[in-house]
Amino acid sequence: MSNHYQAVNWSGFKIRYDLILASGVILFLALFVMVSSWRLPADQSISGLILVIRALGACGFTLLTLILCIGPLARLSPRFLPLLYNRRHLGVAMFGIALAHAVLAAVWYHAFGDVNPVVSILTSSAEYSSFPEFPFQPLGLAALVILLVMAATSHDYWLSNLGPRTWKSIHLIGYLAYALLVGHIALGVLQYGPEPVVLIGTATSVVVVASLHLISGLKERRRDRPLNAVVLDGWIRVGDCDEIPPDAGKVVSVGGCHRVAVFRKDEGFSAISNTCAHQGGPLGEGRLIDGCLTCPWHGYQYIVTNGQSPPPFTERIETYELRIDGETIWLNPNAKTPGTEVPPATRASTTERD
Ligand code: HEM
Ligand code: FES
Repeated sequence: MSNHYQAVNWSGFKIRYDLILASGVILFLALFVMVSSWRLPADQSISGLILVIRALGACGFTLLTLILCIGPLARLSPRFLPLLYNRRHLGVAMFGIALAHAVLAAVWYHAFGDVNPVVSILTSSAEYSSFPEFPFQPLGLAALVILLVMAATSHDYWLSNLGPRTWKSIHLIGYLAYALLVGHIALGVLQYGPEPVVLIGTATSVVVVASLHLISGLKERRRDRPLNAVVLDGWIRVGDCDEIPPDAGKVVSVGGCHRVAVFRKDEGFSAISNTCAHQGGPLGEGRLIDGCLTCPWHGYQYIVTNGQSPPPFTERIETYELRIDGETIWLNPNAKTPGTEVPPATRASTTERD
């Protein structure tokens, strides 16, 4: 966790994941080059390097599409969580491939004149005032700069130093890079006129990314809508004690996008923020391991009665007060300062209070 920086722990799963990723990339590039050269009309020859440039661009864009789909997929089904844990590997691979595409394109199209290649990318077809003629390569360059910032800050070192909020904001600009790339590819097709299959592929990517975000957003909104929320004297009804089996939890919305995870350990019930201090993982979907609530994303742990990570770690998240009336658990929605000890609520403690 945050008190020191660890090298990557190469588990069997991570090695298998990276091998599948590397084989997928090689297969994609080989198939793209083969199919594109078969489909070329006999009277049209094209340099093998241009095919490689196109294959790398298409592969990078496909990986970016996949990366943007993993978040909503993991929200729709926990089966996709392992992909989420290892999204960083996918991101770094995507950046490497996009960089190779950009460098080869810059060398092939811009390195043989006496103008600096970057200046040449920005100025060689400067029809900035016309939509169909708008130069598509500067859009690719702008996207590449954003992807560089994201790849360079992807390590936990930056997460710890920038803080989860700033880090997450930086990583949201991935969507801007995606929009710039859709413009890069669509305008490129309009101006160069390569395969319509590229346009169809790009349109499919946009529809898939937008639909998955919409569906998972609607699902989360429905879950957050306090439709059945029963509030008594400012306390929110969590449910009956028997609804939460031992070592399991239930997520309760306390307004806006704030959620609280209520966990049962033996006969005691405790409530802590649902948002992990690492990258905002959903703690309510985690499990109690060795007595600590363990985040389902990267395994940060918290003691449920005080929201603190076990020593020597130093993370702290908000805790909440619970009350049990009869069989019903009630939650005080006012968060306590992160790390505040709150004794677990039990049926017995409530009887004593009564
Ligand atoms: C300095 C940055 C970039 C430059 C100079 C550049 C240049 C080009 C050029 C010249 C083409 C047309 C190739 C041809 O058909 O002959 C192209 C297409 C393409 N680029 Fe880029 N690009 C850049 C960044 C990117 C990035 C970051 C991506 C995303 C990973 C990307 C994805 C694509 C895709 C998908 C195509 C269409 C490939 C096809 O026609 O099959 N480009 N780019
Ligand atoms: S989000 Fe990474 S451990 Fe919780």
